[in-house]
Amino acid sequence: MELFTKTLFLCLALALANGAPVQPDAAVDDGDATLPDRCDGIEFDAITPDEKGITFFFKGAHLWKGYHGPAQLSNESFKELDDIHHIGHVDAAFRMHNKDNLGDHDHIYFFLDDKVFSYYNHTLEDGYPKEIQEDFPGVPTHLDAAVECPKGECQGDSVLFFKGHDVHFYDIATKTVKTKTWSHLPLCTSALRWLESYYCFHGHNFTKFHPVSGEVTGPYPKDARNYFMKCLNFGHGGDYKVRKCSDVKIDAITTDDEGKTYAFAGTIFMRLDTHRDGLHSFSITRAWKEVTGGVDAVFSYTDKIYMIKDDQVYIYKAAAHYTLIEGYPKTIKEELGIEGHVDAAFVCPNEHRVHLIQGRKIRSVDLTATPRTVTEDLPLPLSDIDAALCSAEGIKVYKGSQYYEYESPMLLAMSRIAPVPHNITSGMMGCQE
Ligand SMILES: *[C@@H]1O[C@H](CO)[C@@H](O)[C@H](O)[C@H]1NC(C)=O
Ligand SMILES: *[C@@H]1O[C@H](CO)[C@@H](O)[C@H](O)[C@H]1NC(C)=O
Ligand SMILES: *[C@@H]1O[C@H](CO)[C@@H](O)[C@H](O)[C@H]1NC(C)=O
Ligand SMILES: *[C@@H]1O[C@H](CO)[C@@H](O)[C@H](O)[C@H]1NC(C)=O
Repeated sequence: MELFTKTLFLCLALALANGAPVQPDAAVDDGDATLPDRCDGIEFDAITPDEKGITFFFKGAHLWKGYHGPAQLSNESFKELDDIHHIGHVDAAFRMHNKDNLGDHDHIYFFLDDKVFSYYNHTLEDGYPKEIQEDFPGVPTHLDAAVECPKGECQGDSVLFFKGHDVHFYDIATKTVKTKTWSHLPLCTSALRWLESYYCFHGHNFTKFHPVSGEVTGPYPKDARNYFMKCLNFGHGGDYKVRKCSDVKIDAITTDDEGKTYAFAGTIFMRLDTHRDGLHSFSITRAWKEVTGGVDAVFSYTDKIYMIKDDQVYIYKAAAHYTLIEGYPKTIKEELGIEGHVDAAFVCPNEHRVHLIQGRKIRSVDLTATPRTVTEDLPLPLSDIDAALCSAEGIKVYKGSQYYEYESPMLLAMSRIAPVPHNITSGMMGCQE
């Protein structure tokens, strides 16, 4: 996780679950002078993800949905904020993390003056708006910012409320508040938790902080336009474009020991297990420095990730960062005892053999034997396979924008006819349907 939080970005080159093609200047170019442009450098009133992992940025009567695209009127998405209050802005917002009370979990809370609004599925919940005191006793009115802090990152499931330099830690289970003063932190007008890190936004800048100690480590502030939105002349570049789901083609896919799932395409990879924060693409070299030309096949075994490109195998040890094991890359022949192009590779949970797909063959190699030798060599009913993933639920075999499901490697090899293919969906890969 460390890695992604430290390098944050590129997120912008990215494919978000709600992704529309990036048009940074759309708001300006279409001549609608009433819409603000976040690339001008905006101090946001509030930032929060919704239950689908789409991040909303609020300023005055407007909001931005996700990391690219023009502003919209916020009353089009959250009607009652405006209806009841007529003040045209929100003070603070956060998404509830409350695994003990699924009735609240993933609801978005908005704070306006002394009122709180709770939305789910973009619909105002019954009984809202309420007085802040009614729902969050001890939390002050006229807040500056708010952010969720789940158990594990804070002591219990909590919410951090910012007002001036005071931070009110609200414990959701006990409904108690502890207040700390973080004078070293800039005055946060909005705050966001993203991929397990915490960000205080101030002006057009942001500062990353520790949610318990408030500690800031590293060179902050940074300009939000380089990281949290796609703006011309800002950011670190990257060549990933949001694709249509029917154009998706992945090279490889794997789930590591910690349950992180990665899909690879060209020189980009995407984490697929972070739905709650949206889907994000990164350059492969950000995580696996030596793998500069993309991959043909990837599999995970024990705490290592094996990346195959042409006739080379790179083995990385997973810790906070992936580290290339000394002596690698080696040839496929040397490492796995086979030759030729590998289309896809997978290891099933609790198994010690890797299944390598090469054209219309599937070869199994025992990863505990030295030297490695092929223990099984079977014909496959499918051709032109791009990638494969094995989990407790079975095997998914990817081919272009579709995938096939099998219960076991044996059934994959033995089936005479291919099962009905499924389409890759936007929920799976962040593409556009
Ligand atoms: C939203 O706000 C704008 C301007 O404040 C107003 O013209 C419009 O009627 C409002 N729309 C809704 C759906 O309330
Ligand atoms: C979410 O809201 C939409 C319309 O606003 C509705 O069609 C849909 O059924 C709702 N979904 C859930 C899970 O409540
Ligand atoms: C943003 O941060 C830069 C330093 O990175 C600083 O020079 C600038 O004054 C800050 N601007 C605002 C509006 O906070
Ligand atoms: C899969 O996508 C194709 C178009 O790419 C479409 O014609 C087909 O109906 C889809 N199949 C399913 C099961 O949704």
